[in-house]
Amino acid sequence: MTATDSHEGTGRLAGKVAVITGAGSGIGRAAALLFAAEGAAVGVLDRDGAVAEETTAMVTAAGGRALALTADVSKAAQVTQAADAVAAEFGGIDVVYNNAGVDSRGSVAVAEEADWDRCFDVNVKGTYLMTQAALAHMGPGGSIINQGSVAALVGVMNFAAYCAAKGAVVALTRSMAVDLAGRGVRANVICPGTVYTPLMEPMLRARGDGDLDLGLQRTLVKYPIGRLGDVADIARVALFLASDEAAFMTGSVVAADGGMTAQ
Ligand SMILES: NC(=O)c1ccc[n+]([C@@H]2O[C@H](COP(=O)([O-])OP(=O)(O)OC[C@H]3O[C@@H](n4cnc5c(N)ncnc54)[C@H](O)[C@@H]3O)[C@@H](O)[C@H]2O)c1
Repeated sequence: MTATDSHEGTGRLAGKVAVITGAGSGIGRAAALLFAAEGAAVGVLDRDGAVAEETTAMVTAAGGRALALTADVSKAAQVTQAADAVAAEFGGIDVVYNNAGVDSRGSVAVAEEADWDRCFDVNVKGTYLMTQAALAHMGPGGSIINQGSVAALVGVMNFAAYCAAKGAVVALTRSMAVDLAGRGVRANVICPGTVYTPLMEPMLRARGDGDLDLGLQRTLVKYPIGRLGDVADIARVALFLASDEAAFMTGSVVAADGGMTAQ
């Protein structure tokens, strides 16, 4: 399945309302389509309003319910307004998929301060702000899904700020799990391996010394399963964590990486 394939839902998220950040592209768009096909009403949030509208139109065309939201997850007022709009439209929030993320440039020896701050603002602060805003509308049975990365688990060359920020997302998830269990809300983090999306293209190109195909080859050898991930591979894991099937899972760090971190 790719992001645009149709999916015959079986109602695994029937009656639920989900907010997905960074849902205008890549993994977030695939998740929006999958969650909606499984019966959720979806708040499609992206800082780029045009791509949020595109995803929303795709969901609607497939017979689902979605609301496009333009917001930067690192800005508290924008995030609060978006969460309030979803709750007003669909009557609450059950699931938050904190998927919006940005990469970073360079090893710790050369990483630039502005790039470091941007990476933490979006990946870490955005996860905190979106979760806080959604919790105001979330009751027992709620599920928070955070987007980590294999970069939280192993060192990825020339990705210092990204590794650190995704490590912080894993730690924040454990903190959320402990703090929110009493109100019946679960929190888990997915650590995807490399999925070919616009986000990863600069990294893959750099790894191939400017040659994208070479970068892909050099990446592939790290994957015992013999392929890189697809957006749907990650969206399906998010679907499971969002659903009541994962009712006993909280604080889990779920690698979805074709065995990359197993070796
Ligand atoms: N692609 C991979 O290989 C991979 C691997 C591990 C983890 N991840 C993580 O998965 C998530 C999604 O990655 P992707 O590859 O689908 O990326 P992508 O670049 O295709 O999509 C990311 C989306 O997030 C949006 N976004 C960025 N900053 C935002 C902000 N401040 N507020 C709101 N929206 C914002 C972008 O506009 C874009 O639409 C990220 O957190 C990324 O770090 C990706």
